[in-house]
Amino acid sequence: MSEVEDVVDDLSDAWAFDEAVTGNVRDPYPEFERFRAEEPVQRIDLSVMPGEEGKPLFVVYRFEEAQQLLRDNETFSSSIILSAYGEALGKRVMLGMDEPEHGRHRALVAKAFSQKGLARFQDELVARVANDLIDKMAPNGKANLVKEFTFPYPTRVIAGLLGLPEEDFLRFQKWSLALLSYALNPERGLEASKTLVEYYRPILAARREDPRDDLISRLAVAEIDGERLEDEEIFSFLRLLLPAGVETTYRSLGNLLFALLSNEDQLDAIRKDRDLIPQAIEEGVRWDAPLLSIIRVATCDTELGGVHIPEGSSVMPMLGSANHQGERFDDPDTFDIFRPAKSNLAWGNGTHVCLGMHLARLEIRTAINLLLDRLPNLRLDPDADDPHIRGQVFRSPTALPVLFDKA
Ligand code: HEM
Repeated sequence: MSEVEDVVDDLSDAWAFDEAVTGNVRDPYPEFERFRAEEPVQRIDLSVMPGEEGKPLFVVYRFEEAQQLLRDNETFSSSIILSAYGEALGKRVMLGMDEPEHGRHRALVAKAFSQKGLARFQDELVARVANDLIDKMAPNGKANLVKEFTFPYPTRVIAGLLGLPEEDFLRFQKWSLALLSYALNPERGLEASKTLVEYYRPILAARREDPRDDLISRLAVAEIDGERLEDEEIFSFLRLLLPAGVETTYRSLGNLLFALLSNEDQLDAIRKDRDLIPQAIEEGVRWDAPLLSIIRVATCDTELGGVHIPEGSSVMPMLGSANHQGERFDDPDTFDIFRPAKSNLAWGNGTHVCLGMHLARLEIRTAINLLLDRLPNLRLDPDADDPHIRGQVFRSPTALPVLFDKA
């Protein structure tokens, strides 16, 4: 088997995860609606979160309580992420830090992820990667957009942002996949985590010595009040970028493409007016968020939505449910890029709100624009075997078979 086929073969692991954990769930939304009405803060006595087994878990289904808990980061701490994933991501990972440490850390990396900081990557990196992938599909008149486009795209963008040499790309993608499927195969995930650090170590040392114009150099030299990021913090951040920046983006792009290809009138509207793409991206992540839930731990005895929550309990805001709350979003199960703009929780909320949202929006906008420009008459393959979105932890289509006019 060639190395490329080998990497593509590994893809099935990323999808096997959801199936192993939750089964092939196509539509979780009717159940969420029932819980929002009957048990909006639901107590489950035995958590199965790694490291938290046996403690109570509270699942929060309504928008208001989910937002309230995400904004109250003193009562609801992110440290639970360290106990669950610290081994794979590193003990100094910002996702698992609380204030004030988290704020200091975030300030050091935030500039590189601002709209301004990213603007110059649009043509020289993001569009180049998208065009490369489209070049390979365009002569064929048909493609599976997940395998040939949405999956490889964000990993290659991140590799480019980090300034990794192109010849290392396949290795990098393999380690990414192993890290992404850590929950399914912890041993392999941990090995990849260690290998990644060993891979990054000489690169970081070289960039500290002689900074270039890439993300690793920016992290190496970032300074606030004379303080810099330690090596371990940088390695943790670099490992976090894979699950946080690849998994979510490829799934969101797949969900949006599926929604648009299944709603021809809205796709046509976008074909004619590309200024509609930003609102389509927000509607896409609202309608089917790539990550249905996130997790916190209660730091003291507290109450949420009238329900007592004992100190030490895991608390899980169900973002996908909050985004389908009828009182906030009319006809919430319908994908409608023309609905009135209202914030949703797909990007999280509060101090840990997604750091990569501008990059994700840039990647998705560029991808939709170029796919529509370069694959005329893009449509779902009518003979394909029932493409659909699925998953109860992560959600996306596993395949998107499409047809288009050959270039
Ligand atoms: C559509 C795509 C994306 C979605 C829906 C998404 C969603 C989220 C969510 C829900 C959180 C909050 C987690 C929590 O509070 O526990 C988060 C945090 C984060 N995301 Fe994203 N994300 C996306 C893309 C990206 C990209 C492209 C990157 C970077 C390359 C990225 C980097 C991060 C980081 C570093 C954090 C942690 C922020 C912190 O702890 O302060 N994300 N994301």
